[in-house]
Amino acid sequence: LSVKKELEKILNTAPSHELEHTKKDLDGFRKLFHRFLQEKGPSVDWGKIQRPPEDSIQPYEKIKARGLPDNISSVLNKLVVVKLNGGLGTSMGCKGPKSLIGVRNENTFLDLTVQQIEHLNKTYNTDVPLVLMNSFNTDEDTKKILQKYSHCRVKIYTFNQSRYPRINKESLLPVAKDVSYSGENTEAWYPPGHGDIYASFYNSGLLDTLIEEGKEYIFVSNIDNLGATVDLYILNHLMNPPNGKRCEFVMEVTNKTRADVKGGTLTQYEGKLRLVEIAQVPKAHVDEFKSVSKFKIFNTNNLWISLAAVKRLQEQNSIDMEIIVNPKTLDGGLNVIQLETAVGAAIKSFENSLGINVPRSRFLPVKTTSDLLLVMSNLYSLNAGSLTMSEKREFPTVPLVKLGSSFTKVQDYLRRFESIPDMLELDHLTVSGDVTFGKNVSLKGTVIIIANHGDRIDIPPGAVLENKIVSGNLRI
Ligand code: UTP
Repeated sequence: LSVKKELEKILNTAPSHELEHTKKDLDGFRKLFHRFLQEKGPSVDWGKIQRPPEDSIQPYEKIKARGLPDNISSVLNKLVVVKLNGGLGTSMGCKGPKSLIGVRNENTFLDLTVQQIEHLNKTYNTDVPLVLMNSFNTDEDTKKILQKYSHCRVKIYTFNQSRYPRINKESLLPVAKDVSYSGENTEAWYPPGHGDIYASFYNSGLLDTLIEEGKEYIFVSNIDNLGATVDLYILNHLMNPPNGKRCEFVMEVTNKTRADVKGGTLTQYEGKLRLVEIAQVPKAHVDEFKSVSKFKIFNTNNLWISLAAVKRLQEQNSIDMEIIVNPKTLDGGLNVIQLETAVGAAIKSFENSLGINVPRSRFLPVKTTSDLLLVMSNLYSLNAGSLTMSEKREFPTVPLVKLGSSFTKVQDYLRRFESIPDMLELDHLTVSGDVTFGKNVSLKGTVIIIANHGDRIDIPPGAVLENKIVSGNLRI
Protein backbone atom coordinates (compact mmCIF):
# COMPACT_ATOMS: atom_id res chain seq x y z
CA LEU A 1 0.00 0.00 0.00
CA SER A 2 2.79 2.42 0.88
CA VAL A 3 4.38 1.83 -2.54
CA LYS A 4 1.08 2.74 -4.16
CA LYS A 5 1.03 5.99 -2.17
CA GLU A 6 4.63 6.81 -3.09
CA LEU A 7 3.90 6.17 -6.77
CA GLU A 8 0.88 8.45 -6.61
CA LYS A 9 3.02 11.17 -5.05
CA ILE A 10 5.54 10.80 -7.87
CA LEU A 11 2.79 10.90 -10.50
CA ASN A 12 1.44 14.12 -9.00
CA THR A 13 4.73 15.84 -9.79
CA ALA A 14 4.48 15.06 -13.54
CA PRO A 15 3.99 18.09 -15.80
CA SER A 16 0.82 17.79 -17.90
CA HIS A 17 2.61 16.82 -21.13
CA GLU A 18 4.29 13.90 -19.34
CA LEU A 19 1.28 12.80 -17.34
CA GLU A 20 -0.08 10.17 -19.70
CA HIS A 21 3.09 8.22 -20.34
CA THR A 22 4.28 8.55 -16.73
CA LYS A 23 0.99 7.01 -15.67
CA LYS A 24 1.46 4.12 -18.12
CA ASP A 25 5.01 3.58 -16.88
CA LEU A 26 4.05 3.62 -13.22
CA ASP A 27 1.08 1.31 -13.84
CA GLY A 28 3.39 -1.15 -15.59
CA PHE A 29 5.83 -0.93 -12.74
CA ARG A 30 3.10 -1.45 -10.14
CA LYS A 31 1.98 -4.70 -11.83
CA LEU A 32 5.55 -6.00 -12.03
CA PHE A 33 6.25 -5.05 -8.42
CA HIS A 34 3.03 -6.70 -7.29
CA ARG A 35 4.04 -9.94 -9.03
CA PHE A 36 7.48 -9.69 -7.43
CA LEU A 37 5.94 -9.43 -3.95
CA GLN A 38 3.63 -12.36 -4.59
CA GLU A 39 6.18 -14.73 -6.02
CA LYS A 40 7.58 -17.17 -3.53
CA GLY A 41 10.23 -19.71 -4.39
CA PRO A 42 11.96 -20.48 -7.68
CA SER A 43 10.34 -19.56 -11.01
CA VAL A 44 10.99 -23.04 -12.48
CA ASP A 45 10.64 -26.49 -11.02
CA TRP A 46 13.85 -28.25 -12.07
CA GLY A 47 12.12 -31.62 -12.10
CA LYS A 48 9.81 -30.45 -14.89
CA ILE A 49 12.59 -29.25 -17.18
CA GLN A 50 13.12 -31.50 -20.16
CA ARG A 51 15.37 -31.53 -23.17
CA PRO A 52 13.41 -29.98 -26.07
CA PRO A 53 12.00 -32.54 -28.54
CA GLU A 54 14.01 -33.05 -31.76
CA ASP A 55 11.72 -31.17 -34.13
CA SER A 56 11.28 -28.13 -31.86
CA ILE A 57 14.80 -26.92 -32.68
CA GLN A 58 15.55 -27.19 -36.37
CA PRO A 59 18.96 -26.95 -37.97
CA TYR A 60 19.42 -23.81 -40.04
CA GLU A 61 20.76 -25.89 -42.94
CA LYS A 62 17.36 -27.58 -43.23
CA ILE A 63 15.58 -24.21 -43.35
CA LYS A 64 18.06 -22.96 -45.94
CA ALA A 65 17.76 -26.05 -48.10
CA ARG A 66 14.18 -25.07 -48.95
CA GLY A 67 15.55 -22.20 -51.02
CA LEU A 68 13.73 -18.94 -51.72
CA PRO A 69 10.53 -18.27 -53.65
CA ASP A 70 10.38 -15.87 -56.59
CA ASN A 71 8.22 -13.47 -54.61
CA ILE A 72 10.80 -12.90 -51.88
CA SER A 73 10.37 -9.11 -52.22
CA SER A 74 6.72 -9.29 -51.24
CA VAL A 75 7.68 -11.53 -48.31
CA LEU A 76 10.34 -9.00 -47.26
CA ASN A 77 7.83 -6.19 -47.41
CA LYS A 78 6.00 -7.82 -44.50
CA LEU A 79 9.05 -7.56 -42.27
CA VAL A 80 10.11 -4.91 -39.76
CA VAL A 81 13.61 -4.88 -38.25
CA VAL A 82 13.67 -3.93 -34.58
CA LYS A 83 16.91 -3.16 -32.74
CA LEU A 84 17.08 -3.06 -28.96
CA ASN A 85 18.70 0.30 -28.35
CA GLY A 86 17.96 1.07 -24.72
CA GLY A 87 21.45 0.34 -23.42
CA LEU A 88 24.43 2.59 -22.74
CA GLY A 89 28.08 2.01 -23.56
CA THR A 90 29.19 2.25 -19.94
CA SER A 91 30.81 -1.21 -19.81
CA MET A 92 33.24 -0.01 -22.47
CA GLY A 93 33.77 3.32 -20.69
CA CYS A 94 31.59 5.37 -23.05
CA LYS A 95 28.92 7.88 -22.24
CA GLY A 96 25.76 7.81 -24.34
CA PRO A 97 24.05 5.05 -26.33
CA LYS A 98 26.12 1.97 -27.05
CA SER A 99 24.85 1.99 -30.64
CA LEU A 100 26.86 5.17 -31.32
CA ILE A 101 30.25 3.61 -30.55
CA GLY A 102 32.48 3.33 -33.64
CA VAL A 103 33.09 -0.32 -34.45
CA ARG A 104 34.54 -0.55 -37.93
CA ASN A 105 36.07 2.08 -40.26
CA GLU A 106 34.40 4.90 -38.28
CA ASN A 107 31.01 3.20 -38.63
CA THR A 108 28.91 2.84 -35.50
CA PHE A 109 26.61 -0.09 -34.69
CA LEU A 110 23.74 2.08 -35.89
CA ASP A 111 25.52 3.05 -39.14
CA LEU A 112 26.12 -0.63 -39.92
CA THR A 113 22.49 -1.51 -39.20
CA VAL A 114 21.21 1.24 -41.49
CA GLN A 115 23.64 0.21 -44.25
CA GLN A 116 22.50 -3.42 -44.02
CA ILE A 117 18.82 -2.56 -44.33
CA GLU A 118 19.41 0.01 -47.05
CA HIS A 119 21.31 -2.60 -49.03
CA LEU A 120 18.41 -5.02 -48.61
CA ASN A 121 15.87 -2.43 -49.74
CA LYS A 122 17.91 -1.47 -52.78
CA THR A 123 18.66 -5.07 -53.77
CA TYR A 124 15.06 -6.30 -53.52
CA ASN A 125 13.30 -3.00 -54.20
CA THR A 126 11.54 -3.23 -50.86
CA ASP A 127 10.55 -1.04 -47.98
CA VAL A 128 11.77 -2.78 -44.81
CA PRO A 129 11.67 -0.22 -41.99
CA LEU A 130 13.98 -0.02 -39.00
CA VAL A 131 12.49 0.45 -35.55
CA LEU A 132 14.67 1.43 -32.62
CA MET A 133 13.51 0.72 -29.12
CA ASN A 134 15.17 3.56 -27.21
CA SER A 135 15.16 4.22 -23.50
CA PHE A 136 15.10 7.54 -21.64
CA ASN A 137 18.90 7.07 -21.50
CA THR A 138 19.40 6.83 -25.26
CA ASP A 139 16.48 8.59 -26.95
CA GLU A 140 17.79 12.13 -27.19
CA ASP A 141 21.28 11.29 -28.45
CA THR A 142 19.94 8.70 -30.90
CA LYS A 143 17.37 11.07 -32.37
CA LYS A 144 20.03 13.73 -32.99
CA ILE A 145 22.03 11.25 -35.03
CA LEU A 146 19.06 9.95 -37.03
CA GLN A 147 19.03 13.10 -39.20
CA LYS A 148 22.17 11.80 -40.80
CA TYR A 149 20.21 8.95 -42.39
CA SER A 150 17.40 11.07 -43.80
CA HIS A 151 18.57 10.41 -47.36
CA CYS A 152 18.99 6.67 -46.90
CA ARG A 153 16.47 4.24 -48.29
CA VAL A 154 15.33 3.11 -44.86
CA LYS A 155 12.38 4.46 -42.97
CA ILE A 156 13.38 4.75 -39.32
CA TYR A 157 10.91 4.78 -36.46
CA THR A 158 11.63 5.00 -32.76
CA PHE A 159 9.63 4.35 -29.65
CA ASN A 160 10.63 4.61 -26.04
CA GLN A 161 10.61 1.82 -23.55
CA SER A 162 9.28 2.39 -20.06
CA ARG A 163 11.03 4.19 -17.25
CA TYR A 164 10.63 2.43 -13.91
CA PRO A 165 11.64 3.59 -10.43
CA ARG A 166 14.50 1.83 -8.61
CA ILE A 167 13.52 0.43 -5.24
CA ASN A 168 15.37 0.79 -1.97
CA LYS A 169 16.44 -2.76 -1.05
CA GLU A 170 15.58 -2.35 2.64
CA SER A 171 12.35 -0.34 2.61
CA LEU A 172 11.14 -1.59 -0.82
CA LEU A 173 10.03 1.98 -1.57
CA PRO A 174 10.94 3.98 -4.68
CA VAL A 175 14.13 6.02 -4.39
CA ALA A 176 12.67 8.83 -6.53
CA LYS A 177 10.70 11.55 -4.84
CA ASP A 178 9.47 13.15 -8.04
CA VAL A 179 9.19 12.36 -11.71
CA SER A 180 12.39 14.08 -12.88
CA TYR A 181 15.40 12.03 -13.89
CA SER A 182 18.18 14.54 -13.79
CA GLY A 183 20.23 16.01 -10.95
CA GLU A 184 19.62 14.19 -7.68
CA ASN A 185 17.19 11.83 -9.38
CA THR A 186 19.52 10.63 -12.14
CA GLU A 187 20.02 7.25 -10.55
CA ALA A 188 16.46 6.83 -9.35
CA TRP A 189 15.11 5.36 -12.63
CA TYR A 190 16.00 2.53 -14.99
CA PRO A 191 14.92 0.89 -18.25
CA PRO A 192 13.38 -2.46 -17.19
CA GLY A 193 15.17 -4.82 -19.60
CA HIS A 194 14.34 -5.74 -23.19
CA GLY A 195 11.27 -7.76 -22.16
CA ASP A 196 9.63 -4.37 -21.91
CA ILE A 197 9.41 -4.32 -25.72
CA TYR A 198 5.96 -5.93 -25.85
CA ALA A 199 4.19 -3.41 -23.64
CA SER A 200 6.02 -0.33 -24.83
CA PHE A 201 5.77 -1.18 -28.54
CA TYR A 202 2.04 -1.71 -28.07
CA ASN A 203 1.54 1.38 -25.92
CA SER A 204 3.44 3.57 -28.40
CA GLY A 205 0.80 2.90 -31.08
CA LEU A 206 3.55 1.94 -33.54
CA LEU A 207 2.63 -1.74 -33.42
CA ASP A 208 -0.86 -0.93 -34.73
CA THR A 209 0.49 1.46 -37.37
CA LEU A 210 2.81 -1.22 -38.74
CA ILE A 211 0.05 -3.86 -38.76
CA GLU A 212 -2.15 -1.42 -40.68
CA GLU A 213 0.69 -0.97 -43.17
CA GLY A 214 0.63 -4.72 -43.83
CA LYS A 215 3.65 -5.72 -41.78
CA GLU A 216 3.47 -9.21 -40.24
CA TYR A 217 6.72 -10.08 -38.49
CA ILE A 218 9.41 -8.29 -36.52
CA PHE A 219 13.01 -9.41 -36.43
CA VAL A 220 14.31 -8.30 -33.02
CA SER A 221 17.96 -8.34 -31.99
CA ASN A 222 20.53 -6.68 -29.78
CA ILE A 223 22.04 -3.69 -31.58
CA ASP A 224 25.47 -4.83 -30.44
CA ASN A 225 25.15 -8.19 -32.24
CA LEU A 226 26.87 -7.54 -35.56
CA GLY A 227 25.85 -10.98 -36.82
CA ALA A 228 22.13 -10.25 -36.56
CA THR A 229 21.38 -9.54 -40.22
CA VAL A 230 18.05 -10.21 -41.93
CA ASP A 231 18.05 -13.83 -43.02
CA LEU A 232 15.79 -14.47 -45.99
CA TYR A 233 15.59 -18.24 -45.46
CA ILE A 234 14.28 -17.87 -41.91
CA LEU A 235 11.87 -15.19 -43.03
CA ASN A 236 10.60 -17.42 -45.81
CA HIS A 237 10.16 -20.29 -43.36
CA LEU A 238 7.99 -18.03 -41.21
CA MET A 239 5.85 -16.72 -44.03
CA ASN A 240 5.57 -19.96 -46.04
CA PRO A 241 5.79 -22.75 -43.46
CA PRO A 242 6.16 -26.26 -44.94
CA ASN A 243 3.27 -27.63 -42.86
CA GLY A 244 1.10 -24.57 -43.47
CA LYS A 245 1.15 -23.69 -39.77
CA ARG A 246 2.85 -20.41 -39.06
CA CYS A 247 5.15 -19.97 -36.07
CA GLU A 248 4.35 -17.02 -33.86
CA PHE A 249 7.81 -16.94 -32.35
CA VAL A 250 11.21 -18.12 -33.59
CA MET A 251 14.29 -17.99 -31.40
CA GLU A 252 17.67 -18.30 -33.09
CA VAL A 253 19.90 -20.42 -30.91
CA THR A 254 23.45 -21.58 -31.52
CA ASN A 255 25.69 -24.35 -30.23
CA LYS A 256 27.25 -23.73 -26.83
CA THR A 257 30.98 -23.77 -26.44
CA ARG A 258 32.63 -23.93 -23.04
CA ALA A 259 32.92 -20.14 -23.17
CA ASP A 260 29.16 -19.54 -23.24
CA VAL A 261 27.78 -22.01 -20.74
CA LYS A 262 26.07 -19.17 -18.88
CA GLY A 263 23.72 -18.23 -21.73
CA GLY A 264 20.00 -18.98 -21.43
CA THR A 265 18.94 -22.27 -22.99
CA LEU A 266 15.73 -23.57 -24.58
CA THR A 267 13.99 -26.34 -22.70
CA GLN A 268 10.70 -28.18 -22.88
CA TYR A 269 8.49 -27.27 -19.93
CA GLU A 270 4.85 -28.18 -19.43
CA GLY A 271 4.57 -29.03 -23.11
CA LYS A 272 6.01 -25.77 -24.43
CA LEU A 273 9.37 -24.33 -25.35
CA ARG A 274 10.74 -22.28 -22.48
CA LEU A 275 13.88 -20.20 -22.08
CA VAL A 276 15.70 -20.96 -18.84
CA GLU A 277 18.40 -18.60 -17.58
CA ILE A 278 21.18 -19.59 -15.21
CA ALA A 279 19.79 -17.29 -12.49
CA GLN A 280 16.65 -19.49 -12.34
CA VAL A 281 18.54 -22.72 -11.79
CA PRO A 282 18.80 -24.16 -8.25
CA LYS A 283 22.46 -24.31 -7.12
CA ALA A 284 22.49 -28.11 -7.08
CA HIS A 285 21.72 -28.24 -10.81
CA VAL A 286 23.96 -25.45 -12.13
CA ASP A 287 26.56 -27.90 -13.47
CA GLU A 288 23.88 -29.88 -15.24
CA PHE A 289 22.53 -26.63 -16.74
CA LYS A 290 25.99 -25.65 -17.95
CA SER A 291 26.62 -29.06 -19.47
CA VAL A 292 27.28 -28.78 -23.18
CA SER A 293 25.89 -32.25 -23.78
CA LYS A 294 22.50 -31.96 -22.03
CA PHE A 295 21.62 -28.42 -23.09
CA LYS A 296 23.53 -27.97 -26.30
CA ILE A 297 22.40 -24.57 -27.40
CA PHE A 298 21.90 -21.02 -26.10
CA ASN A 299 19.74 -18.04 -27.04
CA THR A 300 21.32 -15.49 -29.40
CA ASN A 301 18.46 -13.04 -28.74
CA ASN A 302 17.76 -12.93 -32.49
CA LEU A 303 13.99 -13.35 -32.47
CA TRP A 304 11.29 -13.40 -35.14
CA ILE A 305 7.88 -12.57 -33.74
CA SER A 306 4.40 -12.23 -35.24
CA LEU A 307 3.04 -8.71 -34.84
CA ALA A 308 -0.56 -9.94 -34.71
CA ALA A 309 0.39 -12.35 -31.92
CA VAL A 310 2.06 -9.59 -29.89
CA LYS A 311 -1.07 -7.49 -30.25
CA ARG A 312 -3.39 -10.35 -29.26
CA LEU A 313 -1.34 -11.43 -26.24
CA GLN A 314 -0.76 -7.87 -25.10
CA GLU A 315 -4.50 -7.17 -25.23
CA GLN A 316 -5.19 -10.35 -23.27
CA ASN A 317 -2.49 -9.35 -20.80
CA SER A 318 -1.06 -12.83 -21.20
CA ILE A 319 2.61 -12.33 -21.96
CA ASP A 320 4.34 -14.04 -19.10
CA MET A 321 8.01 -13.34 -18.41
CA GLU A 322 9.98 -14.31 -15.33
CA ILE A 323 11.11 -11.38 -13.22
CA ILE A 324 14.84 -10.78 -13.05
CA VAL A 325 15.83 -9.07 -9.81
CA ASN A 326 18.91 -6.98 -10.49
CA PRO A 327 20.62 -5.61 -7.36
CA LYS A 328 22.68 -2.40 -7.74
CA THR A 329 24.55 -0.01 -5.50
CA LEU A 330 24.05 3.66 -6.33
CA ASP A 331 26.94 6.16 -6.33
CA GLY A 332 26.10 7.30 -2.81
CA GLY A 333 26.24 3.69 -1.51
CA LEU A 334 22.49 3.04 -1.37
CA ASN A 335 21.54 -0.55 -2.17
CA VAL A 336 18.63 -0.80 -4.58
CA ILE A 337 16.94 -3.41 -6.73
CA GLN A 338 15.53 -3.08 -10.19
CA LEU A 339 13.01 -5.50 -11.64
CA GLU A 340 13.60 -6.49 -15.22
CA THR A 341 12.32 -8.91 -17.87
CA ALA A 342 13.95 -10.43 -20.96
CA VAL A 343 12.34 -10.47 -24.41
CA GLY A 344 13.08 -14.18 -25.06
CA ALA A 345 11.37 -15.27 -21.85
CA ALA A 346 8.01 -14.62 -23.54
CA ILE A 347 8.47 -17.56 -25.93
CA LYS A 348 6.28 -19.75 -23.73
CA SER A 349 3.30 -17.43 -24.19
CA PHE A 350 3.24 -17.74 -27.98
CA GLU A 351 1.68 -20.50 -30.07
CA ASN A 352 3.71 -22.76 -32.29
CA SER A 353 7.12 -21.46 -31.31
CA LEU A 354 10.32 -22.83 -32.77
CA GLY A 355 14.07 -22.74 -32.19
CA ILE A 356 16.40 -22.56 -35.19
CA ASN A 357 19.98 -23.63 -34.62
CA VAL A 358 21.94 -21.05 -36.61
CA PRO A 359 25.66 -20.84 -37.41
CA ARG A 360 27.80 -19.06 -34.87
CA SER A 361 28.35 -16.24 -37.36
CA ARG A 362 24.85 -14.93 -36.51
CA PHE A 363 26.04 -14.28 -32.97
CA LEU A 364 28.78 -11.65 -33.05
CA PRO A 365 28.21 -9.51 -29.96
CA VAL A 366 30.53 -6.70 -29.00
CA LYS A 367 30.49 -6.49 -25.22
CA THR A 368 34.13 -5.63 -24.50
CA THR A 369 37.09 -4.00 -26.23
CA SER A 370 38.49 -7.53 -26.76
CA ASP A 371 35.43 -8.20 -28.95
CA LEU A 372 35.98 -4.83 -30.60
CA LEU A 373 39.58 -5.70 -31.49
CA LEU A 374 38.37 -8.82 -33.31
CA VAL A 375 35.71 -7.04 -35.36
CA MET A 376 38.04 -4.15 -36.22
CA SER A 377 40.75 -6.51 -37.46
CA ASN A 378 41.42 -8.19 -40.80
CA LEU A 379 39.70 -11.32 -39.48
CA TYR A 380 36.54 -9.80 -40.89
CA SER A 381 35.65 -8.01 -44.04
CA LEU A 382 32.88 -5.45 -44.28
CA ASN A 383 30.33 -5.61 -47.02
CA ALA A 384 27.22 -3.36 -47.16
CA GLY A 385 27.18 -3.09 -43.38
CA SER A 386 27.69 -6.83 -42.76
CA LEU A 387 30.81 -8.41 -41.36
CA THR A 388 31.95 -11.77 -42.66
CA MET A 389 34.94 -13.82 -41.62
CA SER A 390 37.83 -13.27 -44.00
CA GLU A 391 38.45 -16.10 -46.45
CA LYS A 392 42.14 -15.70 -45.75
CA ARG A 393 41.68 -17.17 -42.27
CA GLU A 394 42.48 -20.84 -42.46
CA PHE A 395 40.34 -22.03 -39.54
CA PRO A 396 36.71 -21.10 -38.95
CA THR A 397 37.07 -20.16 -35.27
CA VAL A 398 37.94 -16.70 -33.96
CA PRO A 399 40.99 -16.26 -31.74
CA LEU A 400 40.56 -16.01 -27.99
CA VAL A 401 41.48 -12.43 -27.04
CA LYS A 402 41.84 -11.15 -23.49
CA LEU A 403 42.85 -7.52 -23.12
CA GLY A 404 43.64 -6.37 -19.58
CA SER A 405 42.06 -3.55 -17.60
CA SER A 406 44.24 -0.82 -19.21
CA PHE A 407 42.24 -1.52 -22.37
CA THR A 408 38.71 -1.58 -20.90
CA LYS A 409 37.69 1.91 -21.99
CA VAL A 410 37.34 2.37 -25.74
CA GLN A 411 39.43 5.57 -25.61
CA ASP A 412 42.33 3.84 -23.82
CA TYR A 413 42.08 0.87 -26.12
CA LEU A 414 42.25 3.06 -29.25
CA ARG A 415 45.21 5.00 -27.86
CA ARG A 416 47.14 1.77 -27.30
CA PHE A 417 46.94 0.53 -30.89
CA GLU A 418 48.58 2.73 -33.54
CA SER A 419 46.95 0.43 -36.04
CA ILE A 420 45.03 -2.80 -35.56
CA PRO A 421 47.47 -5.75 -35.81
CA ASP A 422 47.23 -8.42 -38.46
CA MET A 423 45.43 -11.26 -36.68
CA LEU A 424 44.70 -13.70 -39.50
CA GLU A 425 46.89 -16.41 -37.99
CA LEU A 426 46.25 -15.66 -34.33
CA ASP A 427 44.86 -18.31 -31.96
CA HIS A 428 45.19 -16.72 -28.57
CA LEU A 429 46.16 -13.26 -27.34
CA THR A 430 46.50 -12.19 -23.71
CA VAL A 431 47.63 -8.66 -22.90
CA SER A 432 48.03 -7.32 -19.40
CA GLY A 433 49.35 -4.02 -18.01
CA ASP A 434 50.73 -0.93 -19.72
CA VAL A 435 51.20 -2.18 -23.29
CA THR A 436 51.09 -0.31 -26.62
CA PHE A 437 51.22 -1.62 -30.19
CA GLY A 438 53.04 0.21 -33.01
CA LYS A 439 51.86 0.30 -36.61
CA ASN A 440 51.56 -2.89 -38.71
CA VAL A 441 52.23 -5.45 -35.98
CA SER A 442 51.47 -9.11 -36.83
CA LEU A 443 50.25 -11.55 -34.18
CA LYS A 444 50.36 -15.30 -34.87
CA GLY A 445 49.68 -18.44 -32.85
CA THR A 446 49.65 -17.80 -29.09
CA VAL A 447 50.93 -14.42 -27.95
CA ILE A 448 51.10 -13.35 -24.33
CA ILE A 449 52.28 -9.85 -23.40
CA ILE A 450 52.54 -8.96 -19.73
CA ALA A 451 53.82 -5.66 -18.37
CA ASN A 452 54.00 -5.88 -14.59
CA HIS A 453 53.16 -2.95 -12.36
CA GLY A 454 55.57 -0.07 -13.11
CA ASP A 455 56.77 -1.62 -16.38
CA ARG A 456 55.75 -0.65 -19.89
CA ILE A 457 55.94 -2.66 -23.08
CA ASP A 458 55.81 -0.94 -26.47
CA ILE A 459 55.58 -3.45 -29.30
CA PRO A 460 57.61 -1.81 -32.10
CA PRO A 461 56.10 -1.01 -35.50
CA GLY A 462 56.27 -3.89 -37.97
CA ALA A 463 56.99 -6.50 -35.26
CA VAL A 464 55.94 -10.07 -35.99
CA LEU A 465 55.11 -11.97 -32.80
CA GLU A 466 54.59 -15.68 -33.32
CA ASN A 467 54.06 -18.02 -30.34
CA LYS A 468 55.76 -15.51 -28.05
CA ILE A 469 55.66 -14.47 -24.43
CA VAL A 470 56.79 -10.89 -23.88
CA SER A 471 57.31 -9.54 -20.37
CA GLY A 472 59.46 -7.06 -18.47
CA ASN A 473 60.12 -3.57 -19.75
CA LEU A 474 60.37 -2.70 -23.42
CA ARG A 475 60.16 0.98 -24.26
CA ILE A 476 60.73 2.46 -27.67
P1 UTP B 1 22.31 -6.17 -22.44
O1 UTP B 1 23.08 -5.06 -21.87
O2 UTP B 1 21.26 -6.70 -21.58
O3 UTP B 1 23.32 -7.24 -22.94
O4 UTP B 1 21.68 -5.68 -23.77
P2 UTP B 1 23.43 -8.76 -22.63
O5 UTP B 1 23.74 -8.93 -21.19
O6 UTP B 1 24.34 -9.35 -23.63
O7 UTP B 1 22.02 -9.22 -23.06
P3 UTP B 1 20.97 -10.24 -22.63
O8 UTP B 1 20.14 -9.48 -21.64
O9 UTP B 1 21.69 -11.43 -22.09
O10 UTP B 1 20.29 -10.46 -23.94
C1 UTP B 1 21.24 -6.44 -24.86
C2 UTP B 1 20.52 -5.48 -25.81
O11 UTP B 1 19.33 -5.06 -25.23
C3 UTP B 1 19.25 -3.65 -25.18
C4 UTP B 1 20.68 -3.17 -25.25
O12 UTP B 1 20.73 -1.88 -25.82
C5 UTP B 1 21.32 -4.22 -26.14
O13 UTP B 1 21.11 -3.93 -27.51
N1 UTP B 1 18.49 -3.28 -23.96
C6 UTP B 1 18.86 -3.77 -22.75
C7 UTP B 1 17.40 -2.47 -24.09
O14 UTP B 1 17.06 -2.03 -25.19
N2 UTP B 1 16.71 -2.15 -22.97
C8 UTP B 1 17.03 -2.59 -21.74
O15 UTP B 1 16.35 -2.25 -20.76
C9 UTP B 1 18.14 -3.43 -21.63
